[in-house]
Amino acid sequence: MWWKPVHRSERIWFTIAFIWCMILFAMMPLWHLRGGQNPSGTRARVEPSAYVARVQQFVRDYGTGATDGGIPVVAPPAGADIYLLGAQFQWTPVLQLEQGAEYTLHLSSLDVNHGFNLFPFNVNFQVVPGYDYGLRVIPTEAGSYSILCNEFCGIGHHLMVGRVIVNPVGTASAPEASPAAAGGGQ
Ligand code: CUA
Repeated sequence: MWWKPVHRSERIWFTIAFIWCMILFAMMPLWHLRGGQNPSGTRARVEPSAYVARVQQFVRDYGTGATDGGIPVVAPPAGADIYLLGAQFQWTPVLQLEQGAEYTLHLSSLDVNHGFNLFPFNVNFQVVPGYDYGLRVIPTEAGSYSILCNEFCGIGHHLMVGRVIVNPVGTASAPEASPAAAGGGQ
């Protein structure tokens, strides 16, 4: 029957399918430019060792002196660049942030790909060695949150859980430990 002219209904169907294909095709570049899923902020190459040095400096600058499960707790001021390192199999440091303040969250990895997942929110980001991603973040809800690794990174992947503490507005400089004013010189 292929030599007979195409039936009208089939022609309409083909036209609709083709137009739909073109719409989907156009959505790819459009979504890339307009979609809200694109990461905000900056991207740069970084040597893993240089990134580790930045994290260590960050801990020296704003560390509270306290530790949480052996990981240093850091309370950076509002507006600061904050650093989080993913490594087999931990997130360093523990971040203590202020609700409503804006930060630039830097993410990178020491070794292999890790996945930043802020639990219980649906916030996910790929953490890749050799790249420093600076994301603009504003913690909107106070509380204690877990950072889960959602990229299989080795035998201890399931143990890779970090922590973010968000203090309610107005209590930023009075975390669980001593007031920041007293610990400023540490
Ligand atoms: Cu890190 Cu899985």
